[in-house]
Amino acid sequence: MKKLMIINGPNLNLLGKRETNIYGNMSFTDFFETVAKKYPEVKIEHFQSNIEGELIDKIQEVGFSYDGIILNAAAYTHTSVGIGDAVKAIETPVVEVHISNTFSREEFRHHSYISPNSRGVILGFGLQSYELAIHSFL
Ligand code: DQA
Repeated sequence: MKKLMIINGPNLNLLGKRETNIYGNMSFTDFFETVAKKYPEVKIEHFQSNIEGELIDKIQEVGFSYDGIILNAAAYTHTSVGIGDAVKAIETPVVEVHISNTFSREEFRHHSYISPNSRGVILGFGLQSYELAIHSFL
């Protein structure tokens, strides 16, 4: 069975409460439960941290054994050389996702340290961005 890891960065623990006009009303836990049931043929886990180093630790931990990583590094996408380097260092393919269309937002959200070393990028489809990323690994 394929193993996928969803890794969420800072403030994504507030999904459902945070800027709902941009990020929607659903918590990630509720979304995850539905999606995990929908794809019983893959093992999907998820991890969230507000701490940059913990995200890097998780990328390294799963990055040589899992079949795919779905990474929403949130604000660190635009700032973290360290997370970008971690994505480059591992063997597991990474699909970068964003809930919002970062290109229709502030200029500082237009640059990503993750994209150059990702297999692909999916953004702007709300929580469905994660589901499209799962599809890309099936
Ligand atoms: C985000 C977009 C980022 O710019 C922002 O900092 C986030 C969430 C998204 O999923 O749309 O926290 O990654």
